[in-house]
Amino acid sequence: MKTKTVIMSVCLVIAAFAGYLLADATQKGEAQMATTPVDMSKVPQADLEKEIARNGITAELDAINFYEQMASMTKNATTRKVLLDIAREEKTHVGEFQALLINMDQEQRTELESGKREVEALAKN
Ligand SMILES: [Fe+2]
Repeated sequence: MKTKTVIMSVCLVIAAFAGYLLADATQKGEAQMATTPVDMSKVPQADLEKEIARNGITAELDAINFYEQMASMTKNATTRKVLLDIAREEKTHVGEFQALLINMDQEQRTELESGKREVEALAKN
């Protein structure tokens, strides 16, 4: 029963905060939820699957930020644990979309490795 109450509380807090964010973003003309940040009708058919994967990554990163921000706001330790667990799961989703993307985009795969090497080199200095 206590677990159900915590889950319901988490859902209510998330829904309220999501509503606030959506209203705020909509007012600013930059709503992210349930929309794509690019006009998909203008994406060439050959690039559509890559763009879907990129949008998926964007949405999952947004979700991680959202859940971690909510976790930092709550005073309830169980709620914080649930939110951070969900945030961790979203990181897995980022990895899934990234895997999809690098399977379709050789340049992305190459540049991802290049970026990794650059950071490793900078970290050594
Ligand atoms: Fe996700």
